[in-house]
Amino acid sequence: MTHGGGVDSIHRAFPSGSAPLPGARILRLGHISDLHVADRSRYPRNGFTARDCERHSTRLAKGLLDALREIGVDHLVVTGDLTFSGEPREFERAAELLRPFAEAGKLTVVPGNHDVWTEESVETGRFLRALGPDGKGMKKAAPSYPHVVPLGDEAVLVALDSARYGDDPWTTPGRLGGEQLRAARELAREHARLGRAVLLAFHHHVVLPPERVPSDAHVCRMPLADADQVVRLVAEVPVAAVLHGHRHTAFRVDLPGAAGPTPVLCAGSASRTADEPVRRARAYLYEVDRTGVRSVEALVAGTE
Ligand SMILES: [Fe+2]
Ligand SMILES: [Fe+2]
Repeated sequence: MTHGGGVDSIHRAFPSGSAPLPGARILRLGHISDLHVADRSRYPRNGFTARDCERHSTRLAKGLLDALREIGVDHLVVTGDLTFSGEPREFERAAELLRPFAEAGKLTVVPGNHDVWTEESVETGRFLRALGPDGKGMKKAAPSYPHVVPLGDEAVLVALDSARYGDDPWTTPGRLGGEQLRAARELAREHARLGRAVLLAFHHHVVLPPERVPSDAHVCRMPLADADQVVRLVAEVPVAAVLHGHRHTAFRVDLPGAAGPTPVLCAGSASRTADEPVRRARAYLYEVDRTGVRSVEALVAGTE
């Protein structure tokens, strides 16, 4: 497999799957998260210093996006935290980075807690106006989730908004809410009946793996308040996978699902400058057919 500049390895993560079904069309879905595009010149502000911005590099994210374009993914999902603290220029830059995918009609984005970090970013509907659910932005911010995207005839992506504003963003949990959860359940049931694999995507983690990393202390204070409802949904209705971000380390946990083990995949951060292999900036590449996620590959960015 060829890959673009800035990516130094592609490897099969969490080997799974068997030979594809005869005649089944395999779709390739890219997944990145937590770009944290920062307008460094504006800091200190919103509780962050300019040095905090240096934990992320847009250049690493750009390398991964170039590699995904070269591979030719059918669709790309970005599971939130596109900005560092929801500043206007950060949204503009994130939209610029993702433009090729948006213009090709191959992009779905959901907001993360950092995209609703300030009251101002929420009140002005910055996320939806700059990026909207499909990366193109909206003239007037309007409720947009669940955002349902067909992935060929065999699978469907159900994108949900778990980002909630709170006076103290460091301790504000995410929440999907009853309305979105009911809609997701109905959609999953309906598409499963039609023989399609249903993939849910949102920002916050459902569960953290037993192997903890130091930054888990932070994300533990910003959990998904209704994670138990997601666990229940997956147990009761066939869901092929749950894709999310928020924790800046990649991992997979399998939940007991209505149709067998359901992979819950955290893509980590696509821009993190870190030496430890599990924290290195990465993108995931999934092969999907109507039976679910056939394989998971990780594209890992090179060091700067
Ligand atoms: Fe994040
Ligand atoms: Fe987050």
